[in-house]
Amino acid sequence: MYKSPSPLPEKARQEIAAGLNERLADGLDLHSQIKVAHWNIKGQQFASLHPLFETFAVSLANHNDAVAERAVTLGAQAYGTARHAAKHSRLPEYPQDTARDMEHVKLLAERIEVYLAGLRESRSAAEKNGDTDTVDLYTQIVTEFEKHGWFLRASLEG
Ligand SMILES: [Fe+2]
Repeated sequence: MYKSPSPLPEKARQEIAAGLNERLADGLDLHSQIKVAHWNIKGQQFASLHPLFETFAVSLANHNDAVAERAVTLGAQAYGTARHAAKHSRLPEYPQDTARDMEHVKLLAERIEVYLAGLRESRSAAEKNGDTDTVDLYTQIVTEFEKHGWFLRASLEG
């Protein structure tokens, strides 16, 4: 671990950073999956869902950056190559031949829920280690992605 402006003990910083790297792997994987859905979607809902998926991807790219930089701020290394993300992500692979609009909605809703479960676990670990700032970062992401998940689930209710 490198020196950090954080007053937390090294062991706490190490544990929190491990969680951040797990969430980074999930987030990078999810970002690529959202883009696959954005590119390949077909059907009556194309006009609304194609740009909606892009807003998810843009927001997630920013969150991934913040998560990686928090790990480095705590004195750790951020691991974020495509190969590393593929190996460590807890998300299932995306069925890339999917075309139908509502099928993409269902697949992304499921994956966002997996991503959220990981965020909540890592947030609890950060809370246990007394890192309010990392907890805040996770809460912002959880709040936003619960909203994205709601958009998708609401679309499936039709
Ligand atoms: Fe695009």
